[in-house]
Amino acid sequence: MAKLTEIAWEEFERLPLEAKRPYLENDAIPDTPYHTLFAQQFDRGLLERLAALANRIRFMAKSKEGALYLKSLLPHKRAMLYFSQPSSRTFLSHLAACQILGLTTGSVRDAATSSEFKGESKEDSIRTFSSYFDMIIMRTPEKGLAEHMAWELSNSSRPIPILNAGSGKDQHPTQALLDIYTLLRSFETKGGLKDRTVTFCGDLLRGRTVRSLSYLLTNFDNIRQVFVAPQQLQVPTDVLEILDAKGVKYEVSDDLRAAVKISDAVYMTRIQDEWDQSKGESARIDTHLFKFGAEELKLLPKDGIIMHPLPRRDEIATCCDHDPRAMYWRQMRNGMWIRSALIAMTFGFEKQIMCFGA
Ligand code: CP
Repeated sequence: MAKLTEIAWEEFERLPLEAKRPYLENDAIPDTPYHTLFAQQFDRGLLERLAALANRIRFMAKSKEGALYLKSLLPHKRAMLYFSQPSSRTFLSHLAACQILGLTTGSVRDAATSSEFKGESKEDSIRTFSSYFDMIIMRTPEKGLAEHMAWELSNSSRPIPILNAGSGKDQHPTQALLDIYTLLRSFETKGGLKDRTVTFCGDLLRGRTVRSLSYLLTNFDNIRQVFVAPQQLQVPTDVLEILDAKGVKYEVSDDLRAAVKISDAVYMTRIQDEWDQSKGESARIDTHLFKFGAEELKLLPKDGIIMHPLPRRDEIATCCDHDPRAMYWRQMRNGMWIRSALIAMTFGFEKQIMCFGA
């Protein structure tokens, strides 16, 4: 069980993110996450262990023998997918990850179909899920809710781990894990993930994937970050303050083509108009210079890659899809492997999988 029980919610909530890390680890398995709530929980060593485990699972899943072994690991565990915000990739890749590892699953995809509709509190809903399941994978529009629910469960008589599958505009840690895994794989035979320039483009203000990935990249040596967006959607200052504190080089720009020319990875994002404060707010912003098309493809270095957390609208032209540097489809599939690795690690099966066939 995690150590959240040692601290009151009001006190825990106020802790700086780095100080929260020890409270989220698994007491029984050293250096292993229990609740996964923030990108800040993952240091370089843990990221590399997860990537190695994801590689291992990916190769094992190709053979019947390996797939059956993986499926035999967690048939005694059940996962609840509680998604009160729309999702395709995050929901399905977690579901597929559970299937790979033999977990059975249940889901609520709309709070209006659960007893929350009848006025049940979030706390009571989560306690209900924990009565039937051994892990909760949750997506919510509310900032900090996954963290609060983790604290609730750790103080209950049936604590179970929570994986944050996207909370408000602040965190999407498992997306950042699959993004890092994609970067590690893409540069594996080309000098590794160091001395690189990563450009983020689009809605950097409200995109939670950018916030989480920007932080995770600080774990790697000499990664310069470039933030390209219309002024109204530029990266928030708290993200830049973290980079300043860590001595990471960055640039804030409105020139996508200049950034593409010097980028090893261009991470495009959608305009997140679901967060608009007033009707048509995003539509009034001129975004035409913040799209990746045939011209940008010509400027991208030959070993550069294009990423996108997806879903996309028109920020990457479909003419780019068949270019070998378009990594977003593989990136999406990587989500299934890294989420399998995270679930296996959370339940203590890292060593067993890594030793398979040894
Ligand atoms: N990247 C991502 O979170 O996609 P979904 O909203 O489809 O889950």
